[in-house]
Amino acid sequence: MSLKPWDGRFSEPTDKAVESFTASIDVDRRLYNYDIDGSIAHCRTLARAKILTRQEAVDLEEGLEKVRQEIARGEMAFYDRLEDIHMHVEDRLSAHVGDLARKLHTGRSRNDQIAVDERLYLKAETRGVLVQLKDFRTALVDLAEANIHVVMPGYTHLQRAQPVLFAHHMMAYYEMVSRDFDRFAAALDRMDVMPLGSAALAGTTYDLDRAYTAGLLGFSKISENSMDAVSDRDFMLEFAAAASICMTHLSRLSEELVLWSSAEFRFVELPDAFCTGSSIMPQKKNPDIPELVRGRTGRVTGNLVNLLTLMKSLPLAYNRDMQEDKVPLMEIVDTLKACLDIYSRMIPNIRVNPEVTEKAANSGFQNATDLADYMVAKGMAFRQAHACVGRAVAYALDCGKELHELSLQELQQFDPGIEEDVYEAMSVARMIDRRKVYGGTAGANVSAAIARARKHLVNS
Ligand code: ARG
Repeated sequence: MSLKPWDGRFSEPTDKAVESFTASIDVDRRLYNYDIDGSIAHCRTLARAKILTRQEAVDLEEGLEKVRQEIARGEMAFYDRLEDIHMHVEDRLSAHVGDLARKLHTGRSRNDQIAVDERLYLKAETRGVLVQLKDFRTALVDLAEANIHVVMPGYTHLQRAQPVLFAHHMMAYYEMVSRDFDRFAAALDRMDVMPLGSAALAGTTYDLDRAYTAGLLGFSKISENSMDAVSDRDFMLEFAAAASICMTHLSRLSEELVLWSSAEFRFVELPDAFCTGSSIMPQKKNPDIPELVRGRTGRVTGNLVNLLTLMKSLPLAYNRDMQEDKVPLMEIVDTLKACLDIYSRMIPNIRVNPEVTEKAANSGFQNATDLADYMVAKGMAFRQAHACVGRAVAYALDCGKELHELSLQELQQFDPGIEEDVYEAMSVARMIDRRKVYGGTAGANVSAAIARARKHLVNS
């Protein structure tokens, strides 16, 4: 079929440059399975409404399955002049069923067709992302549990602040990724709306049983407003926003892994199989995976902004601008999936250096707050204790010592009430153990958090 389905009102053929400029087939051919699923459901709905005979519907469906096989086997040729996947499928269908193919588009427009394709595609991808997020959360919990006794410095401003359990730090990421999971699940629920029947924008004139179509395609809801149905892209904006937030979390973890694997920190050792070397410096082992995940966050966030900008100010209903949504959306999906996959593979192979993290937890005056709390317990007001400890830190700095390396007499200069039990209060183990408040880093809390997470993961 060399003619275009819409060329009746045109007096000259489309310019070749226009054909190549307007074509989206290079991108939307990825949607062929969903496009064919949508067409088959539409066919059956047309038959149910007696717009097609049973036999016609069966013939069309068989023809569509043949087209599906041809595309799957890479046997189908794609042409710019046929613009998009919808026209390619219909064109190829006519090779199998002849003129009957021309009946398929009854009561339908490419506007509701692309909307259904994109929703089917994104629903499937979102389900996949949810599975990946579950694996990733499991990997985080496993890493936390395997290192449940490891202590490390907790930071604020990237300055040593107070000691925490390494597992507590990992479980913080678990919380972030769990919220990501919830965001994708909520987005999935909202994208689960079937637009067919909306046709170009005003709704079809045919008496189509839309709920029946929705059932065939596995949608739980049908759209309420035909104009919204063909012009809504918030379902992908939501996915893109959830993906950007998720990538932001991955980029924070990445940054920490890059820092922690440096000679300056040496908190963790990344698996050799997940690092690369230098072509000139033989000693190098570079943390490329976290660096690339950190870097690819820009792609995802950039594509979110791309989509938001694309949709901004578009009048109702469909506009051709919207064809541009596929490149950013698919790049977001592909990037997120690749990053989650590589992280779920790498995380179980990260080795923590407990001696190094423990040594770090014991230095940098991270027990200053606990020393002040100790003084408060002996009767001093907190502000005064804060000032006393501040002076003790200045003194210790001068001596090149930590607070717990000062003698009892030295400490008593700052508060005569200090006794021998101060050393216990300033120990890392005690400091961690004292943070028993719900959500705090005490070992029992973190173990309970891990147990809760495990239970949650089994049920999700
Ligand atoms: N390829 C188009 C897209 O991706 C499908 C809808 C085209 N509709 C139209 N009236 N040109 O958005």
